[in-house]
Amino acid sequence: MKTTLSFSAPAELETECLVVAVVDEGEKDKPQPRILSSDKAVQSAAADLLSSGEVSGKLFETVMMHRPGGLRARRLLFVGGGKAKNFTSHELRKLAGTATRFLKPKNIRTFAVALPQLESGDELSARAVIEGAFIGNFDPDTYKSDRKDQRVEELTIVAAGTDKQRLQSAVDQARVLAEAQNFTRELVNEPGNRMTPTILAERARKMAEEVGLHCEVHGADKLKELKMGAFLSVAQGSEEPPALIILRYEPQDAPESPVLGLVGKGITFDSGGISIKPSEGMEKMKYDMAGGAAMLGAMRAIALLKPKVRVICIVCATENMPSGRAQKPGDVQIAMSGKSIEILNTDAEGRLVLADGLHYARELGATHLIDAATLTGACVVALGYTNAGVFANNDEMFTRFDRARERAGEKMWRMPLDPEYTEQIRSTIADIQNTGGRWGGAITAAKFLEEFVGDTPWIHLDIAGTAWMEDNKAWIAKGPSGIAVRTIVEFARDLASGDGAGTGRVGFTGGTQREPLKGTKEAQDHADSGAGL
Ligand code: BES
Ligand code: MN
Ligand code: ZN
Repeated sequence: MKTTLSFSAPAELETECLVVAVVDEGEKDKPQPRILSSDKAVQSAAADLLSSGEVSGKLFETVMMHRPGGLRARRLLFVGGGKAKNFTSHELRKLAGTATRFLKPKNIRTFAVALPQLESGDELSARAVIEGAFIGNFDPDTYKSDRKDQRVEELTIVAAGTDKQRLQSAVDQARVLAEAQNFTRELVNEPGNRMTPTILAERARKMAEEVGLHCEVHGADKLKELKMGAFLSVAQGSEEPPALIILRYEPQDAPESPVLGLVGKGITFDSGGISIKPSEGMEKMKYDMAGGAAMLGAMRAIALLKPKVRVICIVCATENMPSGRAQKPGDVQIAMSGKSIEILNTDAEGRLVLADGLHYARELGATHLIDAATLTGACVVALGYTNAGVFANNDEMFTRFDRARERAGEKMWRMPLDPEYTEQIRSTIADIQNTGGRWGGAITAAKFLEEFVGDTPWIHLDIAGTAWMEDNKAWIAKGPSGIAVRTIVEFARDLASGDGAGTGRVGFTGGTQREPLKGTKEAQDHADSGAGL
């Protein structure tokens, strides 16, 4: 989709359709719609419709007018933004998605959005509109022979602002983010037979080439050499060879430290292995590589936006299958870190591949870690389909991550990591076991991962409930959501930002010297050594 920025008066704009937001300023049962455009011509074109009572402004309501008087646009589309006091750039993002999904089946290929003036400023609004429109433009009907390929081809943002250059750069950046998110959604959408570990690695390699990232792919031999016993134990049951995908973003102008390590779960199909899943709903386990795909999408955007920070990405890709060679409940595996793991349930495979991925990321020099995984059904029980679960071993990193999340407009909720939960994963025969029983399953899975991150500040994202939209929504199609891509990119950019003013910088002072984070054992050692005094 082409994106253009226009500063002409909305009335003068020639377009197939001009989209205007309508919010409800009324009390409970008495809607009072108000359009979010101060343009006189647009207001007078809307006047009759607004006074007719046919428009309420409720969320995602769509009302279209043809040949609006006094405007050069051929159509005028009102999209509801809900209660005026709750209308933020987040609602605007969904509103733009709604407009896109409303217009594209009507064969409308180009439209314009009158940018509402919000307190958060035009840049965030422009970003929200672009992101929302790209997200709405995606459809998962890849393999339908009558695929209509109805897509919007051009979007114009009509702004009144003065700072054209900043707005243009906000538009350009939003585009990169949204395209990266859709790249992730395309990967996640592919079925298991068309997205094997080998194919995922190929897609990563191709993307890396296109955007100028360094890419390495390793097979089982290298995993053995690296002693990735946990990752290999999952891969051993499948005929499909595993792939360890490593992408590096190392800009010349970035300091040696920090190094952000992104680790993604890339289970291209999760049958459960010997602890096999029930057949009902098993087909959905093709999306068990959504965490890995999110990391690839994030790397794509990072390569294009060029923040001054080093980033290493590791995707652990394999199938989880039952076979004569598959691992069995009761088996003991030795992870790359040296920790021994008793396998109680072969369906708790995500934490096994991530254990080695996280450890390896640290060996490769990551000073900050983020992992993303469709890790547990328990996370879906806890938070439903609305919020992803966030776990953090470091409050400063969490605070900073959460601000990035807010700017990106994604929903995630922090979950606890109290030491008490570790009791649940103590094994009688080995260091730890790979399941922690029925209660608090998302937390015990996170505690398992925590065993492999040491003192490195770390964020774990459990996206089991949010990586796949269960139904069509006005603003997004049923299917892969691309959750976490935007937040991770936003965090990487923040990590790169020199002074971090007001953002509570995480553990480094610039240059090459990394200052350990507060509250970590490393910080204690650092303080004990008298450093920084
Ligand atoms: N990939 C699943 C988790 C999942 C469930 C993702 C639902 C998306 C939707 C994961 O590998 C898994 O099977 N987890 C088990 C863990 C259990 C055996 C401790 C689960 O959640 O049931
Ligand atoms: Mn599983
Ligand atoms: Zn899984």
